[in-house]
Amino acid sequence: MTADVDDFVHTGPGTLAGKFFRQFWLAIFQSRDLDAEWSKPIKILGENLTLFRGTSGKVYLVGNRCAHRGTQLSTGIVDGEGIRCIYHGWKFDGSGQCVDQPSEPCSFADDVKIKSYPCIEYLGLVFAYMGEGAPPSPPRYPHFEGDGVLFSHQLVRPINFFQNLENSIDEVHIGFLHANSPYDGNINKHVPLIKTEETGFGIAQYGERESGPMRATFYQPPTTTSWAQAPTYPEETGWRDMLGFRVPIDDDTHITHTVTFAKVPPEKRDAFMQRRRAEWEELSKLPPAEEIADAVLSGKMRFKDIPWRGNGADMTRIQDRIALMGQGVIADRKMERLGQADAAIILLRDIWRREMMAIRDGKPPKTWANEMPPPTSGVE
Ligand code: FES
Ligand SMILES: [Fe+2]
Repeated sequence: MTADVDDFVHTGPGTLAGKFFRQFWLAIFQSRDLDAEWSKPIKILGENLTLFRGTSGKVYLVGNRCAHRGTQLSTGIVDGEGIRCIYHGWKFDGSGQCVDQPSEPCSFADDVKIKSYPCIEYLGLVFAYMGEGAPPSPPRYPHFEGDGVLFSHQLVRPINFFQNLENSIDEVHIGFLHANSPYDGNINKHVPLIKTEETGFGIAQYGERESGPMRATFYQPPTTTSWAQAPTYPEETGWRDMLGFRVPIDDDTHITHTVTFAKVPPEKRDAFMQRRRAEWEELSKLPPAEEIADAVLSGKMRFKDIPWRGNGADMTRIQDRIALMGQGVIADRKMERLGQADAAIILLRDIWRREMMAIRDGKPPKTWANEMPPPTSGVE
C-alpha cells in the first residue's frame, strides 16, 4: 500500500487514489451489451468481478469467484435475480449472499457471502459504487436527457487512465495533435489562451482564441469530463455534447466510456442513424485504428501520412492514441517541464493531491456537486 499523495496512477484497493475513486459512482459497462440472464467477467480498479443482469432486468455486480472452490462465477447461470455456479450449483443473489447449496445435505448458505457493489443505469451505461457505506447521490447530466440522439462508445487503451484524463482537459493539444481532424470553426487551427478555475463540481477550463468565443470544457472528479465536439453528419443542428468517463481496468489499462448527445431533429433521426451505421461499417473494413497507431509508434508510418478515413470521425482517436501511448504505459511525470498552457493539468493534480491528503489524514474530502453545466464549443 502506498501513502504517496502524488501517486495518482495506482488505484487498487488500499491505495490513496483507489480510495479517492471509491467515493464516486463509476461508469463500468455499456447497458446494451448486457442482456437479461447474461453475465460478464469485468475488471475495475484492479478488482476482478462478475456483472450480471437478472431476469427482471436489474443489474448486479458481485465478486468474480464462487465461494465454494473458486471457479469463475461469470461462467455461471443467471437464475432469477441470482447467479448459480456451474461447478456444484451454489447460488448467490445480487448482494453476494449465498442462497442455495444444492450439493450440501445441511446447508450453511447463510454463512457464505461474496462481495458485491450497488449498480444503477443511466444514459445507457451501468454505474457502480465500489466504496464503503452508503453511496452518494448518482450523477445527473440534465442536458443529456433532452430530445436528441444519445449513444455511447467504449475504448480500451493499454495505458494508465491518468494520461487520458489529463489529455481530456488539455485544450492546447487540439491545435497540434488534431490539426488534421474535423473541427468546425477552425478551432484546431488556433492555439488558445487557457484559463481555468476550481468550481463546485470540479474544474472549468476556458480556451480563448483570437478567432471567436470561449470554448468551455469541464471536469468532475474522479475522471469525468464534458466537452463539445463538432457535428459529424449533416442531420445535426449543432455541436455534440460529450461526456467521457475514464475508468481504470487496472494500473496499466483503462476503458473510456463516451456518451454522445447529438442534436438531431426527430424527422432526421433515421437518416442520422443510417449514416452512422454506414460510417462504422466502412471503418470496420479499414485497418484498425490500433494498427495505424502502432505503425506510427514503431516508425513504419509517419504521423503526417495517416490516411484520412471515412469522414475523419476516428482521426482524433488515432492521434490521441499515438500521443498517449507515446508517453509510456505509466508516464514519468518527474521529467516533465510544465508551462502556462498546462494550467488545467496543474490544477487537476493539485485537487487530486489535496483530496488524497485528506483521505490519508482522515479528514473529510470535498463534496462535489453532482451536475456539470453544458460545455460550449467556442464556435457558436
Ligand atoms: S465452485 Fe462453485 S459451487 Fe463449487
Ligand atoms: Fe485529443
